[in-house]
Amino acid sequence: MSRIVYVNGEYLPEEEARVSVFDRGFLMADAVYEVTSVVDGKLLDFAGHAARLERSLNELDMAAPLSADALLEIHRELVRRNGLDEGMIYLQITRGAPPDRDFVFPDPEVTPPTVVLFTQAKALVDSPAAETGIKVISIDDMRWGRRDIKTVQLLYPSMGKMMAKAAGADDAWMVEDGLVTEGTSNNAYIIKDGKIITRHLGNEILHGITRAAALRFARESQFEVEERPFTLEEAKEADEAFVTSASTFVTSVVSIDGVSLGDGAPGPVATRLREIYIEEIRKASI
Ligand code: PDD
Repeated sequence: MSRIVYVNGEYLPEEEARVSVFDRGFLMADAVYEVTSVVDGKLLDFAGHAARLERSLNELDMAAPLSADALLEIHRELVRRNGLDEGMIYLQITRGAPPDRDFVFPDPEVTPPTVVLFTQAKALVDSPAAETGIKVISIDDMRWGRRDIKTVQLLYPSMGKMMAKAAGADDAWMVEDGLVTEGTSNNAYIIKDGKIITRHLGNEILHGITRAAALRFARESQFEVEERPFTLEEAKEADEAFVTSASTFVTSVVSIDGVSLGDGAPGPVATRLREIYIEEIRKASI
């Protein structure tokens, strides 16, 4: 059975969905996106994703084509139409398809944005990666300077994943000026003497929606949290490490550049935080 996807106001079988070759998302990566997870057919932290989407659009001077309520309705309709029980909803908004390729932004009065959403089924709660933990390698962070905006410029992170695969690992942590920024598609954390350490918010990293919730739950559960940059060397000497994202929740990192952390299995703090995160975020799902 083919998926039903959403394109510019229409729900269509995926084979019939079309976007123009002049679309600026396609030609210039002039687009922002969100990934919202679904568990038991319900959306996790939709409000957080809607708020970050609005911020991304504002930062790029793109008008919001739909209200948060309208977007919520589309997300729910896609869950319904595709019978999605567990997985993600991907949303992308581009600056639209002007008549010609041009570096100048098109007039938004003439060129409406392109809005695309689709579902992707995936086991998130009982994920194999969470059982074993993941291995990461370190790579230079060669992305642009506004990583706080969730744009679709994902070529370098995608190359990072391939470098990790080639090295027999699962993912890459990016390093700038000796300090870890984040994973290719997740935020990065280490744990030392029970304290959870993760880079502070700024333009250098994406302001993860899972990060915000996980840190809130960690503090509420009396874990000590420190938001500051950490070096790769510090990470390799940590007791535990983990990543967060909408598609991985909280997932342990068990080795960095071949150096095993702890006993090489998911550690107690990250494991507990994953349980707390899943329990709490599901309570607030809509
Ligand atoms: N990625 N950092 C980067 C670079 C990311 O791409 C992501 C999310 C995160 C975590 O953000 P959040 O907790 O809001 O998912 C951090 C998504 C899942 C993706 O590209 O598929």
